[in-house]
Amino acid sequence: MDREQTEGDMIEQFTKEEFEAGLVGVLNGTPFSCLGLQQGELVYTVPVADTNKRIVVRSTIDSTGIAAERADSIRVWVEYWHKKSDRWAALGKDSKSWTTRLPGWPERLRDRLRAAWAIAMADSKPKARVESNGESCPKCEAGMVLRTRGYDGNQFWGCSMFPKCKGTKNYEEPREEPAAEIKKLIWSDNQKAVFEFVANSKRHGVVKAVAGSGKTSTAVEGLNHTSPDSMVGYVAFNKRIATELARRAPSHAHVSTNHSLGFGNIRAAQGKVKVNSRKLYFLLRDIGENLPTAENNVIKENSRVIQKLVSLTKANMMEPTTETFEYIADRWNIDTNGEGELIYRTAAQLFKQSTADMSVVDFDDMIWFPASEKVPCKKFDVLFIDEAQDLNKAQASLMMNSLNPDGRIVAFGDEFQSVYGFAGADSDSIPNLIKSLDAETLPLSITYRCPKSHVALAQSLVPQIEAAPWAKEGTLETVSQHQFAQGARTGDMVLCRCNAPLVGPAFSLIRRGTKAVILGRDIGKSLMVLISKAQKKAKVHSLSDTLAALIEHGEREVSKLTRMKKHSRAQSIEDRVETIIALSDGCSTMSQLEEKIETIFSDEAEGVTFSSVHKAKGLEANTVWILRDDLMPHPKAEAPWELQQEANIRYVAYTRSKSRLFFVEDD
Ligand SMILES: Nc1ncnc2c1ncn2[C@@H]1O[C@H](COP(=O)(O)OP(=O)(O)OP(=O)(O)O)[C@@H](O)[C@H]1O
Ligand SMILES: [Mg+2]
Repeated sequence: MDREQTEGDMIEQFTKEEFEAGLVGVLNGTPFSCLGLQQGELVYTVPVADTNKRIVVRSTIDSTGIAAERADSIRVWVEYWHKKSDRWAALGKDSKSWTTRLPGWPERLRDRLRAAWAIAMADSKPKARVESNGESCPKCEAGMVLRTRGYDGNQFWGCSMFPKCKGTKNYEEPREEPAAEIKKLIWSDNQKAVFEFVANSKRHGVVKAVAGSGKTSTAVEGLNHTSPDSMVGYVAFNKRIATELARRAPSHAHVSTNHSLGFGNIRAAQGKVKVNSRKLYFLLRDIGENLPTAENNVIKENSRVIQKLVSLTKANMMEPTTETFEYIADRWNIDTNGEGELIYRTAAQLFKQSTADMSVVDFDDMIWFPASEKVPCKKFDVLFIDEAQDLNKAQASLMMNSLNPDGRIVAFGDEFQSVYGFAGADSDSIPNLIKSLDAETLPLSITYRCPKSHVALAQSLVPQIEAAPWAKEGTLETVSQHQFAQGARTGDMVLCRCNAPLVGPAFSLIRRGTKAVILGRDIGKSLMVLISKAQKKAKVHSLSDTLAALIEHGEREVSKLTRMKKHSRAQSIEDRVETIIALSDGCSTMSQLEEKIETIFSDEAEGVTFSSVHKAKGLEANTVWILRDDLMPHPKAEAPWELQQEANIRYVAYTRSKSRLFFVEDD
């Protein structure tokens, strides 16, 4: 018997009713309709959410109502509505797939349909040319039209009277509402298993999965599977993510960060509490002033070292003993400069004083006080934790203290994305959570985000990451600085291991009129510091005097630094001065300039978003540009745990892109 005959014998026959039953509930309940017979087979279709697409299935069922003898494969493809020709057209060969009628066809068909849905959704971008929606030309006030610039492919508003009028305006690509995006997903069986677990299990759970496998999406949707009468908390990794998720989450869920959760407890217990991020500095200064001058000088010289020891002691929930400090100094590579005895003694005193005073708190205290049960914690029935791989011990204790007696934790994380070890995160946070909670672990198996070529790259670091069967090949290329400058556009993300290399390219885009932000308002603050330095030196206040003083200050500093061969610092000052000048264009007062700086440096992704890899954790973009790949691993990393974290940082960087990943060559 040859192979074809064997398969032929196994081909399944089914009726129209059986086939239609196989289409029910496959795409989140969206019903299929029958288009009738085409080429001798019944054809079914389903609209894809609110896009201009539909999925079409050719069933193999002929006019007798039974799967035909001759056709042995069920075909699936995506069509889009072609306005000009007023008809449906096939989306392209990537959207076409088929499955044989061999046993198991309903499951395979379901996967093909879900893949087709994902392809249709991914293809639904704004059209290339759109009439303006109320945009009027800045020159002649005529309507405007969305056009694409030839040399870089960027879109812009152009006057509809062109070539008579050459007025243009910048175009900001509309951002899809995350809530809408989530609603349209077709959940996988693994994701549904998490929802089922959230709704019905009594156990703690840890969803452990690779980058882009839908952890955050699943966690947010999971909130909808909790009882609206229960106390539900969601702990997001940072304020930006928490703010975004608060919009998506159901109203009975309390979204917070670790810090806001902890701080809320302190405020509830203490009433008014001041926040001072320099609390340790001021306390240490007072301690030093009561000591003999020689010792005070040592303390002043090692102020940062002592503060770091205290901070990490709190993060690790350890007692302030010499053994603790020795362990921390060794683990985090803190140099005590031969002054260990005095430094440890002072660190112990600083720890005690800072933990005795709850009227002023710093960021460590926000966690440490409730984690150490110095204040009672708000209690939850279910507490979701995202990015659980980066919890430190104090944060983990805060979570435990935040549960009702029958309360449960459902944590989401990826061990290979643990990148905050340097700041005290427990690199074994996930295994420790599983062990201490006796938690059930739940998997999510594939990355929905990354195309095949990026997954292949990430596999060199995390072999178990897998692309979806329908994932596209993706673009993976090395490009020149020039190509980057010409090609970066709204919605792209630009990443680097360190912040400094982001500054120049971000500013050069801004100077060219392309909207760009650097994640981290602190950089904006550094420009303000430079401005106020120049103002203080020259004793000036107005915008024009400030700019003149700034140019003078810049030239002086640059030539001093150049003489000292500190070229990169010289370059950075020059760049900052040039940026302030560029930003001042169109401003007539200092407050207008300050407002502009406020808006460019942002804690929210906007325009072309520049970010350190750390800050990009959990984020994604269609196009990602990586600057200075040579800084991953960072040249200063030495200890094995540091090298592991550096590998994790690379893994995070390589898994942010949904479509195109470019490595920008360094000039
Ligand atoms: N069932 C699904 N079908 C199609 N796309 C999905 C599905 N679930 C999630 N996604 C998409 O996959 C991408 C990654 O999702 P998400 O950010 O939730 O992953 P993650 O595991 O939290 O990523 P990271 O590891 O970076 O934190 C998002 O674009 C999301 O919309
Ligand atoms: Mg995530």
